[in-house]
Amino acid sequence: MDVMQKTYVYIKLIEVLNKIFSIKVLIFTTFSFLLLNSETFPKEEYWNFSNGNFEAHKFSKLKEINTGNISNLKIAWTHKNGFTPKNKNNSQITPIFTGKSVIISTVNDNLISLDPSNGEEKWRIKLKNPTAKRGLLYLEQYKSIFASTGSGVIAIDETTGQINKNLGKEGYFGESKSLLSPIVYKEKVLVAFLNKVESFSLKEGKRNWSLNLNGARVWSGFSYDKKTNTVAIVTSNLVHLWGKTDINPDYTNSLILLNGDTGDIKCKFKDVHHDHWDFDMVGSPIFTDVNISNQIKRAVYAFSKTGNVLAINIDTCKFLFDKKENFKILKTDKSNYNQTYSSEQTKILLPEPLLDQKYDLDSFLETLNDKENIEYLKFRTRNSKFNKEFIPLSLEYDVLMYGLHGGPSWYGGTLDLVNNQIIIPSNHYPWVLRSYYYDRLLNKVVNLNDKFFSFFSKDDYASPFQKKSKKITSETIKTVYSKLPYLIDAKGRSLYEMKCQSCHGINRKGKYAGETEGDTYIPSLIGVSFTNKIKSLDNLENFNYSHSYVKGMPNLSEDELKKIKNYFNEHDGILKKYNLLREWGSWQLFLDKDKLPASTPPWGKINAIDINTGKINWSIPFGSRKTSSGKILGDKNFGGVLSTAGNLFFATGTPDKFLYAYDSKSGEKIWEYQLPFAGSSSPMTYYYEGEQYILVNSGGGKFFGYDENLGDQMIAFKLN
Ligand code: HEC
Repeated sequence: MDVMQKTYVYIKLIEVLNKIFSIKVLIFTTFSFLLLNSETFPKEEYWNFSNGNFEAHKFSKLKEINTGNISNLKIAWTHKNGFTPKNKNNSQITPIFTGKSVIISTVNDNLISLDPSNGEEKWRIKLKNPTAKRGLLYLEQYKSIFASTGSGVIAIDETTGQINKNLGKEGYFGESKSLLSPIVYKEKVLVAFLNKVESFSLKEGKRNWSLNLNGARVWSGFSYDKKTNTVAIVTSNLVHLWGKTDINPDYTNSLILLNGDTGDIKCKFKDVHHDHWDFDMVGSPIFTDVNISNQIKRAVYAFSKTGNVLAINIDTCKFLFDKKENFKILKTDKSNYNQTYSSEQTKILLPEPLLDQKYDLDSFLETLNDKENIEYLKFRTRNSKFNKEFIPLSLEYDVLMYGLHGGPSWYGGTLDLVNNQIIIPSNHYPWVLRSYYYDRLLNKVVNLNDKFFSFFSKDDYASPFQKKSKKITSETIKTVYSKLPYLIDAKGRSLYEMKCQSCHGINRKGKYAGETEGDTYIPSLIGVSFTNKIKSLDNLENFNYSHSYVKGMPNLSEDELKKIKNYFNEHDGILKKYNLLREWGSWQLFLDKDKLPASTPPWGKINAIDINTGKINWSIPFGSRKTSSGKILGDKNFGGVLSTAGNLFFATGTPDKFLYAYDSKSGEKIWEYQLPFAGSSSPMTYYYEGEQYILVNSGGGKFFGYDENLGDQMIAFKLN
């Protein structure tokens, strides 16, 4: 060999050595990554976390069940937990799989361990209400299940079903109420309590840090990114339509990214400013790599009921698609009341929005050829504003809009890693926001300094929201009212009792049916003398018109009407004098005369958002509803989605009670099964003894439009 050859061989040798070394490094890093994965984080091949993983992917690498064999999917087992919930309090848990057991929670606060092959119970333990309402976690390393409760998170031994007192403070972390699964990593237990986020040491349950959210609530969205050590939360609004919204610090209606170790805020994105419409952000934020102009970036996707989709670059804390043309500034109207409204709001155009908040009544009426329905809807909306975003609330008109149940609903989406898209259901039916006065005399917390009221016992009062917790019987109201000196002699009061009280209530409070009940609306007449509704009492013609669709109206003379109106004036005058009138609001489903949503279907969809471009790949109607005039495609939905490596995704939660499977790439429906009760959380999947299972919570729907009955079943499917 000459020198040149020697050098060549030497160089080759170095190259080979280098390669071996880099392979070693590769092996080492892969190995340590695996180690990290198996020991500190939930095992993704199991389903140790209700959202699939902390990044909220709800995606499984399993593909035994796929588009080719899905027609062979059959029920493997059904578990009935024995408690049928009432009061529309449905089960919202997505179960987890520990490798040995399936773990579920129930509405009556049992945590139950099931045999994954047949659904037979291994153990159950009763915890404090609410138990693991919207999520569970299992960590193999500690052989423990972590469950949120009404007072702190609790660690449960997976084998025995007993509290694991070796962790936390005798098994507990914190004291407050949480609805979501905690996140545990690197010996830290992160908990999203209703209005604070806290970190505890795993072994002692000592508080590492605490972030007080100053009234903003975390009730649906909580995720963690291992790669960047970032915690993501999404928050609610602050007030129930009316109230003070200028606070500092303001964490409401936001996506907030935190440093997992310190709790320091990395960045904060506010969707709605001064929210008076109930536009919470919803669903767990989804962490993912994205490829933009051939560059890989770490990003988080988060969702708002406004329809906005926030896609954030985690390294730069900027919007992923931050060109100016991707944002539309909406100029909004001022309020005539002592309420803070923002003069601008932002509509994000990329990622493409999941909802247009604007409701257009006129173009909807044009699509109807049912004259009676058109007349009815015109009457019901005779005093409404619509066709604009963020219309300020007023006692002089109602607001029509979309968004109170989404766009995206709170169950969020799934990251389909086969097609690089987020698959997420959405809701599209209209709402009416009604504002009115209530009488602060009915408010227990009122501080009545005036001597005039000194003889009332505090227990005599109850506010509209305390209606449920504190029983306010007609007896207590009668007691309060009979003590009101100004009413004893009031002319017209007895006429009111005879002719109006049966509907408008003993205290004139009216009735505003909630989202679980329907659209019954009887206006509050409290303070009515100070609103334009009083015009309906100007004469019998107006009065009769405003009661056009009301059945069972009593006979009334012009003179009686006048007396009642005078009594209202007198009563309202006194309420005003003693500063007892307060603005309040209720939102109601806007339904037509057949109790169907007063908008063009589909009322519910499933959408696929390309994570690299922000564009919607496809959008399909979700479920269907049979009506007297035929089948309507696309209904409301509160369930969720699961995607798998089999190019499949599962979706459930529509009132038709189906579990559906679709081809992820095309959105084409390929399988369906009608459950006994509507699906009530995102389905999950697990692999046990050589077989893949799909597990769905058949808990029923809580909202109007669903079957009245709620269920107590978990239903597992596998290939036949
Ligand atoms: C049988 C039930 C019933 C009775 C009795 C009844 N109301 Fe009503 N009232 C309603 C309903 C329902 C509405 C709402 C109608 C709508 O807008 O859809 C209403 C609406 C009103 C309004 C608001 C009208 C507007 O312009 O928005 C006033 C004011 C009113 N009622 C006063 C009275 C008075 C005063 C009496 C007694 C003389 C009375 N009502 C008796 C059911 C009733």
